[in-house]
Amino acid sequence: MTRIVKWAWVSFGVFLMGTASEGAAPAPSRQGEALYKEQCSICHGAEGKGDGSAAEFLFPKPRNFTTGTFKVRSTPSGSPPTDQDLLNTVTQGMPGSAMPGFSFLSKGDRLALVSHVKRLANLQEKPEGTIAVSSPPAATPETLAQGKKLYREMKCWECHGDEGRADGPSTGTLKDDSGEAILANDFTRGIYKGGGTLSDIVFRFATGMDGTPMPSYEDSLKEPERWALARYVKSLAGPKVAVQPTTGTVVVKRVSGPVPTDTMDPAWGKVPAVPVPLMLLWQRNEAAADEVSVKALHNGKEIALLLEWKDEEVSTRFRRDRHFADAAAVMFSLAPQVPLSRQAHFAMGEKKKPVNIWYWALDRRMDLVGVEPPVQPAFARGPALVAGWGSGNAASVPLRPSAIVEDLNAEGFGTLTAQPRADQNVNGSGFYAAGRWRVVFTRDLRSRGALDAPLEPGRAIPVAFAVWNGSAEDRDGQKAVSTWYRLVLAR
Ligand code: HEC
Ligand code: HEC
Repeated sequence: MTRIVKWAWVSFGVFLMGTASEGAAPAPSRQGEALYKEQCSICHGAEGKGDGSAAEFLFPKPRNFTTGTFKVRSTPSGSPPTDQDLLNTVTQGMPGSAMPGFSFLSKGDRLALVSHVKRLANLQEKPEGTIAVSSPPAATPETLAQGKKLYREMKCWECHGDEGRADGPSTGTLKDDSGEAILANDFTRGIYKGGGTLSDIVFRFATGMDGTPMPSYEDSLKEPERWALARYVKSLAGPKVAVQPTTGTVVVKRVSGPVPTDTMDPAWGKVPAVPVPLMLLWQRNEAAADEVSVKALHNGKEIALLLEWKDEEVSTRFRRDRHFADAAAVMFSLAPQVPLSRQAHFAMGEKKKPVNIWYWALDRRMDLVGVEPPVQPAFARGPALVAGWGSGNAASVPLRPSAIVEDLNAEGFGTLTAQPRADQNVNGSGFYAAGRWRVVFTRDLRSRGALDAPLEPGRAIPVAFAVWNGSAEDRDGQKAVSTWYRLVLAR
């Protein structure tokens, strides 16, 4: 479906400019290659073929750079992206996919990465020019009506659905150039892979999204029509624009009394909430938690973390057949001194870079009585791999009858291991009300060994969050996750 543009831009008030030099990438370097290996290869693969070890857990798949096809461009259809286009993608990530934002890396690092991606994609030719889009005309009462009319006339609804819910008649038949299934965007959730400003969206109409069924409308829509359509598309979500997780800081304030251990303790009311955006590793159009709000306190002896997120329906694994549990997890790096750019993968740790995971799931609570499960051997003494957890079957997670929250370790997908019972030192509980889950985790600051997150007043530790929506069949690797944040314990 990718079409090569006939050069008709000028007549539509869209004109070509020289490549912007602001975001120009340097020559490929060792630095770029090393950063790529640390940050990107787990998904995109060492050679950029989209076959990293995490790829099988992701939908849509990480891009195979060797095809040289890029969705998010300011250049005509069929033309390579500019360095600035790639820099924007690497900085902001691509909402609606597992492509995170890397704004926590310096601009120099991100540009070195852009050069490396270009080398892998063998992008030698310079783009012939970028498409410039003028500034948006003021909205008049007629603009939205015009946009709505065009949305019908141009048959956008065939793929995007009458109300933009990605449920048009073509749903389920759409494929990308590599033959993989692809979903149209759900506009009601404000998901735009190339950015959610009006001009970003106008660019997507003008350039199309190469390699996908999203066509370029350069010769069928005039620029004022594109603005009207962009305004209409954006109106379907209201002011909301989905963002990708990148990084941020959660400050753990120090209090003198006991820390709250109950989800509804009024003490939480005074603690500032840090909103952490989440991204789905396995894209779908049903509801997903796109944000978790995090609060944290410590008192020099104990830490308490409160996670809160929206969920329309409570789901336990035992409520109905084929139902999965609502769950949440907090993941800590076991190497806090390592800079974020060299941390393990944020979804499950990595080989030789183990992580500590505190895991709460609703069905744990209902498992309090009954079977005595096998207790896993200590991680350090040769990890027992709980393969099912990473790839399909939540029932294979070792259950501890007394646990509501489990203290686990992982060294990559498929390696989740419960700590021995004597080392389980994380407590917690969940509470559901008014369409929101609240889950609290508590632990002594003092750890019980090298596999417990080191938590010390005055120090920072990388932390990441995950939420599973059981009623949307989330389980195992199908979850919403953040990237690494910094948890800073006040002195
Ligand atoms: C957790 C997995 C993951 C990691 C880590 C990751 N990516 Fe991606 N990336 C993806 C996925 C998935 C896509 C495809 C998204 C889509 O097409 O909808 C993607 C797409 C891209 C694209 C294509 C943009 C376009 O216009 O089509 C670029 C460029 C890119 N990634 C660069 C990087 C770089 C550079 C890094 C490391 C700094 C990186 N990615 C790390 C998952 C990842
Ligand atoms: C043949 C199916 C098809 C038609 C027709 C179509 N689209 Fe799309 N569109 C897609 C698909 C698929 C994607 C998602 C591409 C991706 O995520 O990689 C998309 C993506 C988009 C995006 C998101 C851009 C971004 O940054 O993620 C916008 C906005 C959009 N379409 C608007 C429209 C409008 C408006 C029309 C009608 C003028 C239209 N589309 C017609 C299939 C279609």
